[in-house]
Amino acid sequence: MNSSTQSAWHDRTITFLGGGAMAKAMMQGVLQAGVPAARLRVADPAAAQRQALSAQFPGIGVFAANPEAATGADAVVVAVKPGVVTRVLDEITPLLDAGVVVISIAAGITLATLAAHLPANQPLVRVMPNTPALVGAGISVLLPTPQTLEPQRLLARQILEAVGLVEEIEQEAWMDGVTGLSGSGPAYVYLMAEALSDGGVASGLPRPLADRLAIRTLLGAAKLLEESGLHPGVLKNQVTSPGGTTIAGLEALEKAGVRGALMAAVQAAARRSHELGMAR
Ligand SMILES: NC(=O)c1ccc[n+]([C@@H]2O[C@H](COP(=O)([O-])OP(=O)(O)OC[C@H]3O[C@@H](n4cnc5c(N)ncnc54)[C@H](OP(=O)(O)O)[C@@H]3O)[C@@H](O)[C@H]2O)c1
Repeated sequence: MNSSTQSAWHDRTITFLGGGAMAKAMMQGVLQAGVPAARLRVADPAAAQRQALSAQFPGIGVFAANPEAATGADAVVVAVKPGVVTRVLDEITPLLDAGVVVISIAAGITLATLAAHLPANQPLVRVMPNTPALVGAGISVLLPTPQTLEPQRLLARQILEAVGLVEEIEQEAWMDGVTGLSGSGPAYVYLMAEALSDGGVASGLPRPLADRLAIRTLLGAAKLLEESGLHPGVLKNQVTSPGGTTIAGLEALEKAGVRGALMAAVQAAARRSHELGMAR
């Protein structure tokens, strides 16, 4: 990014509607990326939550009402639960300037539903982030509408890049698969971490040691996979010696159908995402 692009985004006013877990993670990342606190605003109806937000992020604007927080913003991130998204959009729509980019991170809410509650041709980006955003290691998938111009798409991308990597897609039908894989995927990995640790304990290891080994094994393997650029099958073969320990472990996994179970998990979550989108 050149310095003029960088300063351009650091001058933008970014409003978060809903000050929950994802909004806090994104605000933290945006502040760490160098956006001044005075450029950030958040709206949340709960007084206790507003107090906590002011304490955690000194200098940001904290509002009780969504329209007040959205007025004059360059980007509005809709970070409320899916069930309240359209109500929140109806509240802010009369006050939105034509160039403001609306960024929805709500699971399952389609661009068509979002657009139906916004002025015609409002710049709009649908995003599926994931919770490793809390530690700056998220992956977010972005889908802008065709009406969203380059500077607004770029602003949305920069906001999400503050909490991890970004992928852009052009087909909304993929959002369900994205939700099933990267959106829900962290939970599958937590289950694996727990089970690996249980296996260590079953083999006689003390629990704290088993926990540390399980976490670092997942983290280290993922890092090697990403940094080497090698196919997972190649890396698996590299640690599998004839008649050795690892092939014995892999055989147990294959007999238990773990590979098929993971594929089914992604597809079940994708189906559920589709159902939730249809229900609105
Ligand atoms: N967490 C994830 O793993 C994840 C991953 C991908 C996408 N998402 C999406 O991110 C969005 C936010 O999720 P989250 O986990 O951050 O939820 P959350 O922690 O419950 O945050 C939502 C916040 O919005 C507030 N709120 C409720 N009604 C509001 C209104 N009318 N106006 C403004 N704020 C309002 C809530 O206040 P109260 O608590 O007082 O109701 C809460 O502080 C969801 O749409 C979700 O689908 C989450």
